[in-house]
Amino acid sequence: MKKESEHVALARKYRPQVFDEVLGQPSVSVTLKNALASGRLHHAYLFTGPRGVGKTTMARILAKALNCEKGPTPLPCGTCDACREIAASRCLDVLEMDAASHTGVDNVRQVIIDTVSLAPSRDRYKVFIIDEAHMLSTQAFNALLKTIEEPPPHVVFILATTEAVKIPATIASRCQRFRFRPVPAELLARHLVLLAGKEGLHVEPGALELLSRSAEGSLRDAVSLLDQCGSAGGEAVTEALVRDLFGFVPQDMLLGVLKAILAKDERGLAGWIPALYAEGIEPAQLLRDLRSACEVLYLQALGLETTADPGLRLLEGSAEQFSFLLRRLDKALGELRFGDSPRLTLELGLFDCLGSAADLGAWVKRLEELERRLGPDSPKASRGEGEGKAVPPASRPAADVAHPQGGEEPDGAAAQAWQSAIAALREEKAALAATLEQARLAVVRGAWTVTFARPFDRDSAERGRALIEAKLASTWGKSVHLEFFVGQNGHRPADELVDPVVTSSPAAQAGTWKDAAEASPAVEPPAGFSKAQHVLGGKVRIVKKPAP
Ligand SMILES: Nc1ncnc2c1ncn2[C@@H]1O[C@H](COP(=O)(O)OP(=O)(O)OP(=O)(O)O)[C@@H](O)[C@H]1O
Ligand SMILES: [Mg+2]
Ligand SMILES: [Zn+2]
Repeated sequence: MKKESEHVALARKYRPQVFDEVLGQPSVSVTLKNALASGRLHHAYLFTGPRGVGKTTMARILAKALNCEKGPTPLPCGTCDACREIAASRCLDVLEMDAASHTGVDNVRQVIIDTVSLAPSRDRYKVFIIDEAHMLSTQAFNALLKTIEEPPPHVVFILATTEAVKIPATIASRCQRFRFRPVPAELLARHLVLLAGKEGLHVEPGALELLSRSAEGSLRDAVSLLDQCGSAGGEAVTEALVRDLFGFVPQDMLLGVLKAILAKDERGLAGWIPALYAEGIEPAQLLRDLRSACEVLYLQALGLETTADPGLRLLEGSAEQFSFLLRRLDKALGELRFGDSPRLTLELGLFDCLGSAADLGAWVKRLEELERRLGPDSPKASRGEGEGKAVPPASRPAADVAHPQGGEEPDGAAAQAWQSAIAALREEKAALAATLEQARLAVVRGAWTVTFARPFDRDSAERGRALIEAKLASTWGKSVHLEFFVGQNGHRPADELVDPVVTSSPAAQAGTWKDAAEASPAVEPPAGFSKAQHVLGGKVRIVKKPAP
């Protein structure tokens, strides 16, 4: 392996030096070369596009083309003083300003305004390259405006940015704009093979596909990922190394999860979850990997692309199916950013991928199936033998709509009565009805609890209690006492979660379920439990397992 000190970053080592070496930006290269060949030069250019696709590189090549001793020329020689100094970023007449660290108007004055009228010290043109131009302050842009509008004849501006929308129209309209594109994965892969060859690295096809796919169109990213592989693994860049190094989900797991999703095999999907956690997979990584696989599969289903990945190639599905999955995965990824429970978000996201979660009935059915799977001691499995069954605490509190009075009432009757009561209330007190609509109702063995997101809402409900209970009495058929709570997302706060019905149930007292604290080793909730939790509501506070 190379020593740290000798190692030059590959991205820097292989920075393109002439237009034709810049990959994936043909329209930019061709237009610039033509302009140079015909002498129709502009005095201000705006290079826009995603990061790592050659904007700065192209700006330096343009500077060389303008200032090369043999220039202006579409093919700078690369050997004259100007070419060499520009390539090394130490040419006095080519000033690079990183706007990200020099946002202020003073910097613009110092670097640009004050020097712009001075003649170039040696070269033909004074070239100002303003990188990350969108970072300039409004004042700085204003200061620049006049100069860009009427620069002295020997001055050329090149603004580069990843965020074109942040460039004021007054500036953008005075520049000739070039759009840089993300580099297609195939081209990235070909480039990596080339560099790997030069560096004496052997890259497995699977590794190559992963690297080029995860670079997401950025050549810089692709090259530096390869660089890291080289430093970590010596000469052989295997797929396993890449997965390990960058935390990708192992292929068999990814394929397993995808297969289960495509087959709508809930059981199979649930089966993968513990394995993924055991492997230490980050929820975000799994969702991203699934997303990128679905992207490939979507393009493949449309007939636009075929993947080199033999595993993926075998997965069958329609374009609609994959676009549905992409939307679901995107949603889950978005939620991950805000949620405080990544695993819950992941599991919900995965199960969401199986299909519509819109109707509660389907969820309840799934939930029952899930509970049945939790084992023979599962409370639902032996339901119907009367009252007093111990119930896993994590699933019990704040049940959305459980069965009042031990399951005598039809499913959802309480919910229906509640909704009708709210509807009746709406006639008289619309605001109160709206507040209740936002709240979460739980009915557990005859105890009715209503949980509000904000104390303010609870207080208004408290003020309207008599009215609410009266409406409910008439829709439910008997009088009901409501308990009001405040909790996050409409859940009761953790310290209020202990349900008196549960703790006083005979089986619970007999110790059918043990506290995780006493049980050793500590138990994890069973796979898929978070989904049950989602359906039922509530938070996991303690995990208990059946006593041996
Ligand atoms: N189109 C390309 N062809 C060949 N190599 C490229 C290309 N784009 C980027 N690279 C490689 O990535 C490195 C960085 O590219 P460059 O600085 O030009 O990207 P950029 O578009 O300016 O990115 P940023 O927006 O992050 O500044 C280069 O040194 C080069 O090795
Ligand atoms: Mg750049
Ligand atoms: Zn030259």
